[in-house]
Amino acid sequence: MTDFSNKVIYQIYPKSFNDSDGDGIGDLRGVTEKLDYLKDLGVDYLWLTPFFLSPQRDNGYDVADYRNIDPMFGTMEDLDNLIAESEKRNIGLMFDMVFNHTSTSHEWFRRALAGEKKYQDYYIFKEGSPNQPPTNWQSKFGGSAWEYVPSLSKWYLHLFDVTQADLNWENPEVKEELKEVIRFWKAKGVKGFRFDVVNLISKPEIWEDDFEGDGRRFYTDGPHVHEYLKELVHDTEIEEYVTVGEMSSTTLDHCIRYSGLEEKELSMCFNFHHLKVDYKNGNKWELMEPDYMELKALFEKWQTGMQIGNAWNALFWCNHDQPRIVSRLGNEEKYWKESAKMLAGMIHLMRGTPYIYQGEEIGMTNPHYTSIEQYVDVESRNYYEILLKEGKTKAEALEILAARSRDNSRTPMQWTDERYCGFSKTEPWIPVSDNFDKINVERQKQDKNSILKFYKKLIMLRKEKEVIAKGNIEFMETENADVLAYTRCLGKQQIFICCNFRGAESQMELTQEWMSGTKILGNYEVNHENNHGLLTLHPYEIIVLEKGED
Ligand code: GLC
Repeated sequence: MTDFSNKVIYQIYPKSFNDSDGDGIGDLRGVTEKLDYLKDLGVDYLWLTPFFLSPQRDNGYDVADYRNIDPMFGTMEDLDNLIAESEKRNIGLMFDMVFNHTSTSHEWFRRALAGEKKYQDYYIFKEGSPNQPPTNWQSKFGGSAWEYVPSLSKWYLHLFDVTQADLNWENPEVKEELKEVIRFWKAKGVKGFRFDVVNLISKPEIWEDDFEGDGRRFYTDGPHVHEYLKELVHDTEIEEYVTVGEMSSTTLDHCIRYSGLEEKELSMCFNFHHLKVDYKNGNKWELMEPDYMELKALFEKWQTGMQIGNAWNALFWCNHDQPRIVSRLGNEEKYWKESAKMLAGMIHLMRGTPYIYQGEEIGMTNPHYTSIEQYVDVESRNYYEILLKEGKTKAEALEILAARSRDNSRTPMQWTDERYCGFSKTEPWIPVSDNFDKINVERQKQDKNSILKFYKKLIMLRKEKEVIAKGNIEFMETENADVLAYTRCLGKQQIFICCNFRGAESQMELTQEWMSGTKILGNYEVNHENNHGLLTLHPYEIIVLEKGED
């Protein structure tokens, strides 16, 4: 399989990236307009979240037609142009394949509802009485995972919103249909694919209630998932393409198989364990200070585990479902710049292919919404109601949303300090963050020490130094709760990375061999004090040292 170790991928949420036609919604032409910016940043691929025809109940993850573009994003001609212009700049496009479910507005589902047996078999319909869903499973967006259809006297499964019906991958016709979708986009010149919640596609043989959880242990990494993925990749001949699977609540062993070099499934996978270290008792809707020891343990487990398994990680902090990392693990105020850079370096220098989510490269923060009307996301709106029902006050529920909502990352990209932040000429579909006058691309272009420059440097370093792309990783200071430190090593090339999690000074031991290392990157312009092997790091400092032959 192709090696993607020195590539960097940039994620675009088209709805919030750049609005070219002034309707308040980002679009494909808006992406084309910004290709030079992305080229200058140095990224190799753009992953575009879904822009296919959709009722937008889940912002495009409810696909009504996999081969057509939703008019709000533009036309097929706009897309052809975007593909051609990207190619000219040697940037590959990756499309988002939502194959676990379709929108209930998809023709297949509509025909299923109209009584066509063929299309009922495309989904997971179960007989049952109206008061008794087939299992007690919960939807990931809250409420039951089953919906009753009186006209058919059947229930259908929806692991996400009620308008996102799960597809039946046991039906060979479904698999053939989905393969055709991939072939269609391949023929258009698409260079890679991201597969949405793809480890949920294989459902269990026995349907039973879950008395321990929400049902996920029965359908996550299901019985035939590896077989289905291999078949999909093989039959569409995308083995050499960049492919990344979004793996929900997965395990290391499964990810080794999904992205192992020998398996020929996917080139890499996303897992989310490191983004749950501030979930109290594993509950996203309960706030807690991040547990840094847990974060360290998870990185060590996954990084070294995937290395031993000869498998490949997708490295990321941010995406369209996650709050902004600088608001979460960094400090938005006093150490905004320092913490954004430190977090960038920490993740980019690990073993895997890094992803940058739009706006992360300028340290965009959560938008600080204060009223429920500002939220658009279906999950956030559902959970607001659930939290109130559970007895939280409105203020408490809003505080939780302000930290956890997926809308935190979906605010318009901050290009300038103009009204609507240079994203649009009209009021955007979702409110702009309150700090765009301070945090925007224009301003960082003028600043030699900007977060944007730091990201550029990280991307360049990955291309210059093979040790970053290919080196072995080993963690240090595993007992130190303030600092994360690791080395990468490839033959004689070695680098050392240490990061201070805290908004105060922290210390770590610097081993003899690293005392003479040369600093190649950092977020403070000072020479570090190294007092007989005790290294003192400034608040949120990152230091990268190098030794050996280049
Ligand atoms: C993935 C997407 C998310 C979407 C869900 C259902 O987690 O990233 O945005 O809501 O799948 O398709």
